[in-house]
Amino acid sequence: MNTVVEVTGSGFRAYEVVIGRGLLPELGARIAALGQGRTVVVTDETVAALHGPALLAALEASGVRARLLTVPPGEGSKSFAELERVIDRLLAFGLDRRDLIVALGGGVVGDLAGLAAALFMRGIDFVQVPTTLLAQVDSSVGGKTAIDTPRGKNLVGAFHQPRLVVADIDLLATLPPRQLRSGWAEVLKHGLICDAAFFDWLAGEGAVGATGDAAALQRAVVRSVEIKSAIVGEDEKESGRRALLNLGHTFGHAIEAELGFDEAKLTHGEAVALGCALAFRFSVAAGVCESAAAGRVEQVVAAAGLPARLGDVGPFSSQALLKRMAGDKKAEGGRLTLILARAIGDAFVDKAVDRAALATFLKHEGAS
Ligand code: GLY
Repeated sequence: MNTVVEVTGSGFRAYEVVIGRGLLPELGARIAALGQGRTVVVTDETVAALHGPALLAALEASGVRARLLTVPPGEGSKSFAELERVIDRLLAFGLDRRDLIVALGGGVVGDLAGLAAALFMRGIDFVQVPTTLLAQVDSSVGGKTAIDTPRGKNLVGAFHQPRLVVADIDLLATLPPRQLRSGWAEVLKHGLICDAAFFDWLAGEGAVGATGDAAALQRAVVRSVEIKSAIVGEDEKESGRRALLNLGHTFGHAIEAELGFDEAKLTHGEAVALGCALAFRFSVAAGVCESAAAGRVEQVVAAAGLPARLGDVGPFSSQALLKRMAGDKKAEGGRLTLILARAIGDAFVDKAVDRAALATFLKHEGAS
């Protein structure tokens, strides 16, 4: 059965996130119902080979005029050069403001195609069809679009909400196990932020989702999208509560950066899982959280096959990590901002984290 989560907020047009199985073949009807003109499906070469023909056939069967625009797979496509190429292709296809972009792929495709949609003719509509777990539970919902620059990730972008998100659980069946686990990290994160009962389920009966059980995955995606959309609805532009979604990310980004954003060494999801475990242990060190909660987080993260200790990933220098964390774009006015937790399901934003305490903590965690 499909579930529809509505994303509503004061600053943007409401849209639906449809979550279920067998949704790709019916996508043509959903897109035709939006009443747009022509459609360009932006995807990467890997996803195009897996799902491109099925999607084009579904669109054609519903009378939608569509063509495919492929980009190389991988983070390298979140660049000015690729953005320019995509926009140039849209112009060459003769697209105009009434037409539609469909982003079929993971976070890279969604971010790039979403930014192209935000910029093209000052903004055209786009639909997200996320094909990775990470994109289904996080990046396809909430309207953050971006590319990277040599100075950092996601530094150039726009808030541009999609018109519709269609998350087909069946598309996750072709994901490599490591990618599935990486998306699971963002699922765990949602429970840790504000839903202890959901986290309990993920740790117990629902844990089979991390290894591909479709029913568990569907429930995990639905609850994650409900949590994320409620937060985005309250604070689209991240002036407050949306920062909670960054739980584990400031630690995680610093670690990823130290490893040169090398996905072979550490995926984004693995970094987030490790970051969540560190955020909970730092919350204990800061005296705001019981150590039993941090111990449970570590155990559940590790049981999902995700790293929970710095030593699982490599040797790090505490000063290097601290410098990265302070330079993270989430650091405001020279103070260090971190998402901490009082308990599982009770995260909060701390905008005045003491750097010396953080340095001591990182050393205690094994950084030199
Ligand atoms: N991924 C965090 C956010 O969308 O705000």
